Amino acid sequence: MSQVEEKRHLYESNEVVTDKGFVAPDINSFGNSFRDYNAESERQKTVEEFYRLQHINQTYDFVKRMREEYGKLNRAEMGIWECCELLNEVVDESDPDLDEPQIMHLLQSAEAIRKDYPDEDWLHLTALIHDLGKVLLLPQFGERPQWAVVGDTFPLGCAFDESIVHHKYFKENPDYNNPAYNTKYGIYSEGCGLDNVMVSWGHDDYMYLVAKNNGTTLPPAALFIIRFHSFYPLHQAGAYKHLLNKEDTENLKWLQVFNKYDLYSKCKDQIDIEEVKPYYMSLIEKALHDVMNSVQPRADPKDPAKCVPKASDPKTFFFFLVAANMFLAVKNEIPPPTAKHL
Ligand SMILES: [Fe+2]
Ligand SMILES: [Fe+2]
Repeated sequence: MSQVEEKRHLYESNEVVTDKGFVAPDINSFGNSFRDYNAESERQKTVEEFYRLQHINQTYDFVKRMREEYGKLNRAEMGIWECCELLNEVVDESDPDLDEPQIMHLLQSAEAIRKDYPDEDWLHLTALIHDLGKVLLLPQFGERPQWAVVGDTFPLGCAFDESIVHHKYFKENPDYNNPAYNTKYGIYSEGCGLDNVMVSWGHDDYMYLVAKNNGTTLPPAALFIIRFHSFYPLHQAGAYKHLLNKEDTENLKWLQVFNKYDLYSKCKDQIDIEEVKPYYMSLIEKALHDVMNSVQPRADPKDPAKCVPKASDPKTFFFFLVAANMFLAVKNEIPPPTAKHL
């Protein structure tokens, strides 16, 4: 068994039990193994069609255009909780494990992590916000098709690795036959760092841009989790490691911790939203307090050279436009996970 096959086997056998006591369920809420893209189900056909469209349409040029457009962060201003509630209408068609409203998934992930890592509040908040970029599906954010919002992600500008789910559909992608993009390294070089790599466009990259372009103080590990949590070819199959730099390799350890909770907390166990809301509001308010006291006046969206005053109402803070400093992150330096985490 090759290394990749071995990892896949381990992964698909669902034998994930962490030292922290997190026990993964065997089956998802549809009665299938998690991320089983071949299971016979109604959902499977939708998922496969989703990946066909995604693999044909995600090109280097498309991602470049999306990053330019959405990097302006000129879509909306809103609070984190408000955004979580906004996601209630969104259903992710690419996900064979989940048919719950997104807010339930955010809270299931965050609560599962909180239980096992009570002191890592940056990780709780990261879990709460990691999927907020799915607002891209909503009219206010451009109503992008599912293939441009959700699903596993992969690099553009170099060859599509065979570990990518439903790889066969890449044959119809214009980049597939472009000699500049279809070699192992493509436009990249050994150890160039994922910061320099274009990854297929979706909610991960959008949320990353929101945080980064707002000058967030979230730790690098949190930003790495947000941007690459759907990059299964890397964090599960071990592909594309030749593009990582040293910092990526460290951050990948936290991503792998996070992923267990992102994936296996998807179940029918409902969280009482009203019961847990005060805790998450306290994290958000703590973050807001830090912002109100420390953040620079925000840039005027119409003229970035100018600044407008900080918001004076503590209940008003800015999400997709400015001030992602609200994202807490009182700790800038997060050490890598130790053996007990892995
Ligand atoms: Fe996600
Ligand atoms: Fe998620």
